[in-house]
Amino acid sequence: MTGSPAPWVTLTYIVTAMLFIISIKRLRTPGSALQGIRLAVVGMAIAVVVTLQQAGFDNWLLIFPPMVVGGVIGTVAARRVRMTAMPQMVAVFNGMGAGAAALIAADEFRRLNAAGSVPRIDAITILLSCMIGAIGFAGSMVAFGKLQELITGKPLTYPGQKLINAGLLATILVLGAIIVINQGGIGLFLAFAIGALILGPLFVLPIGGADMPVVISLLNSFTGVAAAITGFVLDNQVLVVSGALVGASGTVLTQLMSRAMNRSLVNILFGAFGGGPAKGAAGASAEMAGDVRSATVEDVVALLELARLVVVVPGYGLAVARAQHDVKRLADQLEARGIEVKYAIHPVAGRMPGHMNVLLAEANVPYSQLYDMDAINDEFGRADVAVVIGANDVVNPAARNNPGSPIHGMPILNVDEAANVVVLKRSMNPGFAGIENELFYNPKTVMLFGDAQKSVSDLVTELKEAS
Ligand code: TAP
Repeated sequence: MTGSPAPWVTLTYIVTAMLFIISIKRLRTPGSALQGIRLAVVGMAIAVVVTLQQAGFDNWLLIFPPMVVGGVIGTVAARRVRMTAMPQMVAVFNGMGAGAAALIAADEFRRLNAAGSVPRIDAITILLSCMIGAIGFAGSMVAFGKLQELITGKPLTYPGQKLINAGLLATILVLGAIIVINQGGIGLFLAFAIGALILGPLFVLPIGGADMPVVISLLNSFTGVAAAITGFVLDNQVLVVSGALVGASGTVLTQLMSRAMNRSLVNILFGAFGGGPAKGAAGASAEMAGDVRSATVEDVVALLELARLVVVVPGYGLAVARAQHDVKRLADQLEARGIEVKYAIHPVAGRMPGHMNVLLAEANVPYSQLYDMDAINDEFGRADVAVVIGANDVVNPAARNNPGSPIHGMPILNVDEAANVVVLKRSMNPGFAGIENELFYNPKTVMLFGDAQKSVSDLVTELKEAS
C-alpha cells in the first residue's frame, strides 16, 4: 500500500476519470468514436505520468524498458491485425491486463507476507484480484488459441465437467479462506493462484469458438473488476475507477450481445453452442422445400439498374472476403445513376460488436448511410433490391418463423420484405449458427455464388460497362 495521494494527484485522477467517461460516451457512435479513443489515450497518459510521479517509484530500469517494448509490440500488432482477427487480438490484450492485475496482487501478497502477516482485509482484496486476474488471463489465452485455431474451436465437453469446475472453484475459495484466517502462507497462496490459472481454461474450453467474442467481453469485464480491486490493493483511485468502468462496460456489452443473439449468457457459457455446422438440423423447415435460383453477374446488374432504393446487408463473409472497398465502389456506381443506397447493420453481424461499422468506415462509407436494424427494418418493404453480402444468420427468417430453430426469437433484418433479394456467398453452407436459411429458397431470392470480393468487383465492372 502506498498511502494517501496528494490532493493535486486526486484532482488529476478525477479529471482522468471524467475523460474516460466522456470517451465511453463518444465511443457510442462511429462518427465520434475516434475522438473518444483520443480522449481515452490522453486520460491514460495523464494517469500513467501522475502515478509515476508519486513517491515509491525509483526502479526506472524495470519500469521503462518493458513499457517501451510493450508499447512497440502493441502498436505494431494493432496496425497489422486483420479485421477478422480482431477478436483474438482483443483476447490477448485483455489477457495481458488480467495477468498484470494478478501479478501485482501476487507481489503485494509476497511483500506483506515477508513482512510478517497479511492483514485480513488486504488478504481478501489481494486474493480476489489475483483469482479474477488469473482466471481472466488463462481464459483469454485459451480464447485466443480457439479463435486463432491453435486448438479446436469446438466446445470441449466431457462427463462431470460442470461438477469438476465447481469442485475446483470451491477448492480455490477454501484455500483463500484459510489464507485470510491465517493472515498469510506463501505455499497456500501459490496453490490458490495455480488453481485459478487452471480454472480459466476449464471455464472457456466447453464454449464454442464462435461464441468467443461474447466470452471475451465477459473476460474483459473480469479484467476490469480485477484491475479495480488491484486499485484498492495499491490505494490508487484512478485504477479503481478505470477498472470499474471496464468491468461495467464489459458486463453491459456481454448482455447486449447475448440479447441481440436472443441467447442467455448461461446458454452461451454452458450450452456448448457454435461447435460447428449442423446442416439441416433444427433449422430445417417445410418452407425449405423449393428451388435455389442461381444468378449471373449480368442478371444482378439488370436488377440493380432498375432499382430506386438498394439496401446493402453486410455480414461476416464481407469481413472474410475483405470486400468493403469494392462495396463502396458499387454504391458509388449506383448513386451515380441516381439510385439510393442504404446499409442495414445488424447488431451481431460479423463476429464482434461494431464489426460492420468498422469495416465500412475503413472504406469511407458515410455514417449517414448506415442504419441500425430498428431504423432500417421498416424500409425493406420499399426497397427494390436487398443485396446480402456474406450475411446469413442475421437475415434468416427461421428466427421469426421456426420455433424449433436455435436462433428462434433473435431479431433479424427483414430482408425478405424487399421486392428482390440478391445473396452473395460462396456456397449453400450455413453461417455461425450452423442452420439452413429459408431466405435462399424464397422465390424473390437469387444467389450470386462466389467470393464476395470477386462478385462485387465483377458487379462494379459490369455496371460500368453497361453505362
Ligand atoms: P454468418 O451467419 O456467420 O454467415 C456468414 C456467411 O458468410 C456464411 O454463410 C458464408 O457462406 C459467407 N462467407 C464466408 N466467407 C465468404 C466469402 N469470402 N465471400 C462470400 N461469402 C462468404 O454471418 P452473419 O449473418 O454476419 O451473422 C453473424 C453470426 O455470428 C450470428 O449468428 C451471430 O449471433 C454470431 N456472433 C456474432 C457476434 C458479434 S458480436 N457480431 C459474436 C459471436 C457470434 P459461404 O461459406 O457459403 O461463403
